[in-house]
Amino acid sequence: MQITVVGTGYVGLVTGVTFAEIGHEVICTDVDSAKIMKLSRGEVPFYEPGLQQLMVRNLQNGRLRFTTDTTDAYRFRDVICIAVGTPSRPDGAVDVSYIEQAVLEVAKAIEQYTVIVVKSTVPVGTNEQVRAMVQQHTNCPFDIVSNPEFLREGSAIHDIYHGDRIVIGADSDRAADIVTELHKPFGTPVFRTDPRSAELIKYASNAFLATKISYINEMANLCEKLGANVDAVAHGMGLDRRIGSPFLQAGLGYGGSCFPKDIRALLHMAESAQSELQLLRAVSIVNEQRPYVVLDKLKQRFSSLRNLRVAILGLSFKPNTDDIREAVSLVMMKELLKAGASLIVYDPIVNQAKGNPVLESARFAGSMKEALDWAEASIIVTEWDEIRSFPLLQYNQETLKETIIFDGRNCYALAEAERAGVEYYSVGRPAVNERQPSHLLHS
Ligand code: UDX
Repeated sequence: MQITVVGTGYVGLVTGVTFAEIGHEVICTDVDSAKIMKLSRGEVPFYEPGLQQLMVRNLQNGRLRFTTDTTDAYRFRDVICIAVGTPSRPDGAVDVSYIEQAVLEVAKAIEQYTVIVVKSTVPVGTNEQVRAMVQQHTNCPFDIVSNPEFLREGSAIHDIYHGDRIVIGADSDRAADIVTELHKPFGTPVFRTDPRSAELIKYASNAFLATKISYINEMANLCEKLGANVDAVAHGMGLDRRIGSPFLQAGLGYGGSCFPKDIRALLHMAESAQSELQLLRAVSIVNEQRPYVVLDKLKQRFSSLRNLRVAILGLSFKPNTDDIREAVSLVMMKELLKAGASLIVYDPIVNQAKGNPVLESARFAGSMKEALDWAEASIIVTEWDEIRSFPLLQYNQETLKETIIFDGRNCYALAEAERAGVEYYSVGRPAVNERQPSHLLHS
């Protein structure tokens, strides 16, 4: 099929590249001409394992191209996928202005029956608004389909090929058939429904996953009080297939460009509809407290954080991405700086401040060892493989002096910490080799 993808962010680029890979002829467009030039040269503007290789292959075989010429991109296409950003407004509402802009251009350009697919995460009712907008600007036949995307950053390619479902929200069977056909080579089960339900499925799914995370994080707090081990509790719970083990990893909570934004949006949507989502409010509050749970452990261990040398291990909001949007690392760094600590940071991929004022206040280490050498306290914030597989024994043997480990993602087994003889604090589990609060190390 002849496909156009509007927007070359995470969802748009991965969608465009993988549609080309399964045999469609794809044009990707974006208003950012510098980005389009980069992409045409085969450069991916963000870190996503496996994406560049697929992109270059499809650029070379001619099934994928990038352009800013929207007339060319929109005129004679079977399907146009809208995958532009839908950022949060300060009140939590969703800013759909990029969608409106894109749809307006599409409506003015189409010259044959076109299926317009909304892949961006949009508030319930947006697809209907989009239909009304297009109707005002064209005499061409068209259909609108809501087709939310569920891929995760860091494993986007894997997720596209191994998705659990493709949700198609359409009022037209013709359009739903076309979108089903479009995805056929992925072999993913298709669920067809109405557009409003499709729009809500996306928000409800993300909110449910976030709920699992906050739930296990509350259990972690309780485990600390009751002397239980949250990893064992999560494992035991996950064995029940009605519960399932994914998204029960206790830690510093969720960040990134989706969960926090989507939860704010869902709360706002509910409020506007005079409905109250009490559970989801609590989910959000629990999550906001997560960085402080670990920071409190530091405060308890050191009488003062002033001039304490702290290593932040991992900056991205999760492993295998360079995305620092709503990353917990930034909240922790801000608080530590406020308390007078000095910071060194290490992340396998995020190695520059890129204009971020919080990151600019820290020194970047070239290696994990360099960070550990300098730090009196080390906080594991993101569980990159390189970080989680760093031998605990080396923490203190390879470094010039002792660093105390605060593991925000429970990367190590407690027995391992005991064997290594390190002073080790994690989440929802007993401390290992705990010592009394002191100024000792940095006085
Ligand atoms: C999420 C959804 O998973 C995806 O379906 C949707 O399309 C976009 O939003 P993403 O934000 O890329 O994807 O990452 P995800 O793997 O879901 O993790 C989100 C956050 O939750 C991360 O900060 C991660 O560290 C945290 N998390 C995840 C936990 O704290 N514990 C867990 O058990 C799982």
